[in-house]
Amino acid sequence: MTPETPNSAGGARTAWSGRFEATPGEFQQRFGASLPVDKRLYAEDIAGSIAHARMLAKQGVIPLADAEAIEAGLLGILKDIEAGAFVFDIADEDVHMAIEAELTRRIGDAGKRLHTGRSRNDQVATDARLYAKRAALELTALLGEVRVALIGLAERHPAVVMPGYTHLQKAQPVLFAHHMLAYFWMMTRDGERLRHAYAAADALPLGSAALAGTTFAIDRDAVAAELGFARVVPNSLDAVSDRDFLADLTYACALGMVHLSRLAEELILWSTEEFGFVTLDDAWSTGSSIMPQKKNPDFAELVRGKTGRALGDLTALLVTLKGLPLAYNKDMQEDKEPVFDAVDTYAGSLEAIAGMLSTLHVNAERMRAGALGGFMAATDLADHLAARGVPFREAHEVVGRLVLACEREGRTLQDLTLAELQEASPVFADDAAGVVDIEAVVARRDTFGGTAPARVAEQLTAAREARAADVAWLAARGAVDD
Ligand code: ARG
Repeated sequence: MTPETPNSAGGARTAWSGRFEATPGEFQQRFGASLPVDKRLYAEDIAGSIAHARMLAKQGVIPLADAEAIEAGLLGILKDIEAGAFVFDIADEDVHMAIEAELTRRIGDAGKRLHTGRSRNDQVATDARLYAKRAALELTALLGEVRVALIGLAERHPAVVMPGYTHLQKAQPVLFAHHMLAYFWMMTRDGERLRHAYAAADALPLGSAALAGTTFAIDRDAVAAELGFARVVPNSLDAVSDRDFLADLTYACALGMVHLSRLAEELILWSTEEFGFVTLDDAWSTGSSIMPQKKNPDFAELVRGKTGRALGDLTALLVTLKGLPLAYNKDMQEDKEPVFDAVDTYAGSLEAIAGMLSTLHVNAERMRAGALGGFMAATDLADHLAARGVPFREAHEVVGRLVLACEREGRTLQDLTLAELQEASPVFADDAAGVVDIEAVVARRDTFGGTAPARVAEQLTAAREARAADVAWLAARGAVDD
């Protein structure tokens, strides 16, 4: 009896036709496919397949001539995909099947030996790890642009004083450079998270096959070395079901976006007429179709808005994983879309923020004027009394009364005469009026990490070193940061 061969009967081709008497319909194909999303993994897939084929030949599992034909065939496919000359067919379900099917069409039987000792389960995990490593490098380079732009702003405006806020109420004056470096350190931590994501991805799952390992005498270390993995995943079940490295990467993107969103919010606020601290360059602003006078911070708003997507991506990925038994489950095919989206969103937002910062116009006069208001020298007046022996709580009370009086009379602390100060407390020294000088208030915060110009200059040196360490980290991994 000759069994029916559904693949030859005009139905959809599958890689498992031997076991089946019917083929998936058009809907099942579309619903089951990941090809539209995962086709961007073609380069990783081809690199993994070439390393696998070479190793199989070296181990005597497949003939050397077949491995050579596989490699040449795959390189031809790579060239065609990159030239836009490759048509992906949804009937192939995913990028792995699409490339393997095309390989066999091109080189015949040798192509059918490629999948020896391998499963799509360890194959997709390998592709995803190669992608995650590349994405972490690319994002680190883009993040570097933002960090360089922050250093540049701090360098170009070393003496500009602005109001520092708590509760978005004027609190104490700070250097604009200090404010920019606060974001620099925030983004230094984002870089550390990307490095962690890179390290988490840096282990080879290939060789785990479907879930339990393979009967062939493969050499996993050779494949790891060839693909540039630092180590081999030590448990085959874990290898095919672990997506933690993707969660790490997506978390790095999500928190990185939260930080860009906070910065975007300040750019939006500062570029209002009410603040007027900065002006976004025309190239990073948009107009209104009805109101001729408008200049809108659309790109900063978009970064803030897109942060919601990145947080959704992280949630989607974690929820996809939470109920899964070991080992591979088809649910995991849903991992790529949120990861790609988070990476793309973060990459675009980094580029936009770097563009806005490197062309930002800083309105130093408006910042300084803002720093003169809001009684921001009040803490220093209280500290002056406390340093002369008045218990701080009492000093606070004395200065609080001065602020109240000034507020009623529409005056500032700088307007107070020495006589008025000494009337409020005889402990005020003869040079007390100078205490409220706004530059002096800033310079007095001379503790490590404080906003005094000397401390900020110190920070700037440390920031340049942190930045150089990133460049070195990227260079050691063959990535350039320009
Ligand atoms: N397209 C699948 C994915 O992205 C590849 C792995 C499929 N494995 C399987 N046993 N069906 O997860």
